[in-house]
Order: sequence, then C-alpha cells, then structure tokens
Amino acid sequence: MVERVVAVVGATGAVGREMLRTLEKRRFPLSRLVALASPRSAGVELPFAGGKVQVQALGPGSFRGVDVALFSAGAGPSREWAPVAAAAGAVVIDNSSAWRMDDQVPLVVPEVNPGAAANRPRGIIANPNCSTIQLVVALQPLHAAAHIEHIVVSTYQATSGKGHAAVEELHAQLRQLAAGESPTPSVFPGQIALNVISDWKPGRDGYSEEELKMVNETRKILGDASIGVTPTCVRVPVETGHSESVHVRFREPMSAARAKELLRSAPGVELREGDYAPGGEPQPLQAAGRDAVFVGRVRDDLCVPNAINLWVVADNLLKGAALNAVQIAEIL
Ligand SMILES: NC(=O)c1ccc[n+]([C@@H]2O[C@H](COP(=O)([O-])OP(=O)(O)OC[C@H]3O[C@@H](n4cnc5c(N)ncnc54)[C@H](OP(=O)(O)O)[C@@H]3O)[C@@H](O)[C@H]2O)c1
Repeated sequence: MVERVVAVVGATGAVGREMLRTLEKRRFPLSRLVALASPRSAGVELPFAGGKVQVQALGPGSFRGVDVALFSAGAGPSREWAPVAAAAGAVVIDNSSAWRMDDQVPLVVPEVNPGAAANRPRGIIANPNCSTIQLVVALQPLHAAAHIEHIVVSTYQATSGKGHAAVEELHAQLRQLAAGESPTPSVFPGQIALNVISDWKPGRDGYSEEELKMVNETRKILGDASIGVTPTCVRVPVETGHSESVHVRFREPMSAARAKELLRSAPGVELREGDYAPGGEPQPLQAAGRDAVFVGRVRDDLCVPNAINLWVVADNLLKGAALNAVQIAEIL
C-alpha cells in the first residue's frame, strides 16, 4: 500500500480535529501528517496516532512533499491556499463552499458519485455542504430507481456545524440561563440556547445562503439540474448531528415499502424500519460519533401520489465533513 503525506488545513477546528481522528480510526495509509492552522495556533499539540502532532502556521512552504491536502479552514483560506497546494502537487479535498460550484471542480460523495473524483482539472475536489451530503446519501438509491421530481427539505442543524466557537457559545448561554442571567450572543445572531434561529447569511429571493447551497449542490451531485429542491434551514440547540424532514415526489411509481427495500442495502445508510413509536426515530444524540446516515419514519405521503416522507439524521462533523473528505482521499 502506498503511504501518503497528508496535510490537514484547519487542524485545530471542529472539522479538522475530526479529520485527525478519522484518519487514525480508518488507518489511512500515511507516512507523515502535517497539521496546519492560523499563526494563532502555531506550536499547539494535537493528539494523533498515540502521540502528538505539532500545529504549524499555514504558509507558502506548507505543501512541499504533500500528496493530499484536506482543507477545512473556511472559504477565504481555501480560495487563497487551495491553488497553492495544488500547484505544489497535492490533491486538494476542500470542505469549504469556495470551489463547490466551480465547473472544473467535482463535488463528491463517495456513496453517490465516486467516479466524479477522477476528473479534477484544478487538482481540487470539493466536499459538499453537510446538510446536502446526508440528503443525497439517503436519496440517491431512490432517485436511481424512480427519478426524483421534487424535494421539500427542512433541516434542524446542530451548532457544531458553525464551528468550535458556536458549540462553546451554546454551552455558555445554557450556563447563563441556569444562573438566571440573559444570554449574550456573539457567534450567533441571537439566543440559540432553548431557541431555534436561522443564522446563515442572506442568499437571494428570501432564501439563506445555506438553503441555496442545498438546491445547487443536490443538483450537481445527483447530476440532474431539473430536480426541484425547496429548502428551509434552521439551527437548533443541539451540539452535534443534523436532522432533516424530507418530502420527495418521484416521476415514476414509488412507495414507502419500495423505498425501504432500496434503503435496506443502500451504501452508508442505516435504516430504522419500525412503525412510528414515540422516541423510536433516529436522533442526533444517537448519530453523533457514528459514520452512517440514519434514515427512519419512511412513510407514503397521505395526499401526494408517488411521494414519500422520511427523517434523515447524521453526524455533521463526520459524514457531513471529515469522514466524507477522508473517504474521498481513500478512493483517489
Ligand atoms: N462544522 C461542520 O459541520 C462543517 C461541515 C461541513 C463543512 N464545514 C466547513 O469546514 C470549514 C471549517 O469549519 P469548522 O466548523 O471546523 O470551523 P472552526 O471550528 O471555526 O475551525 C476553523 C479552522 O480553520 C483555521 N483557520 C481559520 N482561518 C485561517 C487562516 N487564515 N489560515 C489558516 N487556518 C485558518 C482555524 O485555525 P485557528 O484555530 O488557528 O484559528 C481552525 O483550525 C468551514 O469552511 C466550514 O464551512 C464545516
């Protein structure tokens, strides 16, 4: 097995730390790990493979000898540094939104479109948005069988999707509330503890950027620009694990029974088959730390023919980010 030199850009972040754990857990064949972050974190030591790896400040010489560079430092650093890493000979796998809709950059979910990773003229492969990844893992087998016409998806997204600082703010606000104080938001635009808010930047036509990402990325990954996607994204006071309520209408016949049959053997999916029971559905607390996309509550729609409803939950830091990126590195 060929051993690779792997760099993780944003190694101190919520996703970066999961990347280190995922590389270790999956025994990715690497000869050296280069942990990179901003100058603020230079010298910080992170646990890796039974020892420690020292974080270096990202700079022009960071990618010398690097075979694979996993980026999770935000769109700005990705725009600036991914081409530098690619020019130095590394294959870049980027978690940010910077390159996802670039025609020359494949957007890859290994269970759905692994072949797309081979065509990467810029030397960059994009990792989709966390909410989109779990959606397409659950829907691809159904789309292959009966062609999706329209998806209505409502998300319930965890605070760790907004990074390490957002999780700390959730806990700080919960402590403030318990002490009878008013929460002081800084990462979120308002109180997230005991509340539900939309915290993404505005997109267009009244939709947030996050909602538009779900529209565009779903179409690109499934390779069908005609699929209708109607998204609503909200943040809930959960630490890790995004949930989604999904209504899907098909062009060809589809039923809940057929969908369950297809999902039973779908790669990356763990299907919860039982009838509705209180507390029996997939939940973020159970999905956190697990690799699978959990699908439950598969029901025929009561009113719309050839339409089903499902409930989809996954760890946003793992399948929604770090795990998907490492899986891409594995198929290279
Ligand atoms: N969280 C999720 O569920 C999720 C899912 C999919 C995709 N993503 C994407 O992954 C990226 C990282 O998200 P996160 O949640 O891990 O954020 P985070 O916890 O805030 O971590 C950000 C990381 O980027 C580093 N960084 C920031 N600016 C930098 C710069 N100019 N140069 C070098 N390193 C820099 C930080 O280093 P310091 O510690 O030194 O500041 C830190 O390691 C974002 O693009 C996000 O959209 C996140």
